[in-house]
Amino acid sequence: MKLWGGRFSKSTAKLVDKFNASIYFDKKLYKQDIIGSIAYTKMLEKCNIITDEESFKIINGLKEILKEIEDGSVQFKIEYEDIHMNIEKLLIDKIGDVGKKLHTARSRNDQIAVDMRLYLKEEINNICNILKNLLKTLIYISEKNIDTIMPGYTHMQRAQPITLAYHLMAYFQMFKRDYLRLIDCINRMDYLPLGAGALAGTTYSTNREFLAKELGFKNICDNSLDAVSDRDFVIEFLSTASIIMMHLSRFCEEIIIWNSSEFNFIEMDDSFSTGSSIMPQKKNPDVPELLRGKTGRVYGNLISLFTVMKGLPLAYNKDTQEDKEGV
Ligand code: ARG
Repeated sequence: MKLWGGRFSKSTAKLVDKFNASIYFDKKLYKQDIIGSIAYTKMLEKCNIITDEESFKIINGLKEILKEIEDGSVQFKIEYEDIHMNIEKLLIDKIGDVGKKLHTARSRNDQIAVDMRLYLKEEINNICNILKNLLKTLIYISEKNIDTIMPGYTHMQRAQPITLAYHLMAYFQMFKRDYLRLIDCINRMDYLPLGAGALAGTTYSTNREFLAKELGFKNICDNSLDAVSDRDFVIEFLSTASIIMMHLSRFCEEIIIWNSSEFNFIEMDDSFSTGSSIMPQKKNPDVPELLRGKTGRVYGNLISLFTVMKGLPLAYNKDTQEDKEGV
């Protein structure tokens, strides 16, 4: 029987199981899901909703499951639909009925909202570090090219003389703005949605301030309907990612034309170029071309989610499950 199957007298069609499931991709959220559940269990205990003995069993069970997933010994099942119910089922199988208490006063709606925020906060931090390296590299190459004179262009026509350093530092400005946009994006998603329940909170006396501290959120969502249905934070990330790709793509476009024999400003390193199987004179800029090309799918993911969200009534709707693959 499904974990939600109490009122059902028929089992789900196999085709529906397959179509409805998100475990194929939300399994990537296993760590955030378990970290969220451990904090949630501590909160339930602190609020005397479960006993310390129950809390101990649940937390140990969750920690073991985390290890087992990381060892590769866990097989997720489509019939348990998503990462939340797969882990809950594993927990109940491991520690028995007490495992069912973990989901007290919680819904998968606030659970997925917190998992996605935890995941994105971490990933955005990683992207920020990569961007910082890019900024440092731009400074490094610029410093070496303070005296490298080159033409500056407007309308692709030679306009005024500039230096390569100055040209590259224009990209520095673009990527610096991207970095700040990402930080801004983290700050705006730094609100805890857990505790919102399915949509309208819970009659249990829970403690969201405690949860926020445990999970490292600076603030708490003010409106529970918004907490479970909002995906602005995902759209903001995808839109910042799209701007980053636009900048990378422009940069790559310049590398490609500078590397052409018509321009002949630069020569790409052999280790970052490819050859032709029919024309031996060629050295192709596949890497910057591919980066320019991959911009398309990032824009596509942004537009997809915009389109998914535009007609949704409050509060949670299953459509929002479509936010994950693009991210
Ligand atoms: N897999 C779902 C998602 O990604 C989790 C939330 C499901 N909630 C529900 N009421 N069916 O959005």
